[in-house]
Amino acid sequence: MTEIPTVYVTRSIPEIGLKRLRERYEVVIWEEKLPPTKDHIVSRLAELDAEGLVCLLSDQVDAEVLDASPDLSVVSTFSVGYDHIDLDAAAERGIAVGHTPGVLTETTADLAWALLMTCARRTVEGHAYVAADEWETWGPTLLTGPDVHGATLGIVGLGNIGTATAKRAAGFEMEVRYSGRSRKPEREDELAEVGVEATYVERDELLAECDFVSLHVPLTGATAGLIGESELELMSEDAILINTSRGEVIDTDALDAALATGEIARAGLDVTDPEPLPSDHPLFRHAPERLVVTPHIGSASIGTRNQMAEMVAACTEAGIEGESLPHSALRDAGLE
Ligand code: DGY
Repeated sequence: MTEIPTVYVTRSIPEIGLKRLRERYEVVIWEEKLPPTKDHIVSRLAELDAEGLVCLLSDQVDAEVLDASPDLSVVSTFSVGYDHIDLDAAAERGIAVGHTPGVLTETTADLAWALLMTCARRTVEGHAYVAADEWETWGPTLLTGPDVHGATLGIVGLGNIGTATAKRAAGFEMEVRYSGRSRKPEREDELAEVGVEATYVERDELLAECDFVSLHVPLTGATAGLIGESELELMSEDAILINTSRGEVIDTDALDAALATGEIARAGLDVTDPEPLPSDHPLFRHAPERLVVTPHIGSASIGTRNQMAEMVAACTEAGIEGESLPHSALRDAGLE
């Protein structure tokens, strides 16, 4: 009798994905709230002779993990980002890598806008003010902030999520600028169709001219620390910086200093470095007046998380069956 392949899942993902996996495989789940250590993942993969690994962005998947089970044929990450996986090592070993592109684009763009609006219109401060019983009367200058409509929005990285974020500027009649490695005429056309005229500019120009700057680059060697001291210096003292990409794209110490000196007005972060950001971190001295932080919830709508769970299940199945993955990180990274 042939053995049923085993899939090790490093956290309880939405049931719809687990159910699909259980229909064909032995599924072993790390049920705790906090992630398993790398050593634990290595030893479980080895003990189980796992053929599939379903991981999260908080798990480091390096050569040691990939070598843990000789039968490992696929790693599927419950994320679009794959900076936590050593893709070269996976490609060398012929291990397929699945991820969840596309499905979380709109949901993450919604969150970028939630942070943008929150920072501009000071809603978190407003809530804290009311909850602290400080609301005694209507105030002519109480919690005033910049207008969002008619302002200039800068998108750093006009990929899927950057484009979806830019599209939403149409309803606010904003001017949109974008920067990146090169001009993207096809993205400009896509935006023009919804009434957004997006102008390609050098990053420094974007930083100097935009009221809101939203970061949408993947984390790579080239984008780590992309926004540091000199970039923050270029920004206006009224500017608001939004990050829903990866925490390491911003130099945290430089941001802390820029918020302290008033070099920029506010930051809205869904991703941080370090992550999680402890409440005694120096950055928190700016909250909520100058800083709003959410716990990496860009893709956290119920529908999107369910679709992500189905996608990792589909990728895992394809990898174990030796088929081409529907969403391959190796292919997307040009390694396949
Ligand atoms: C991702 O998928 O990479 C996001 O950061 C979390 O959904």
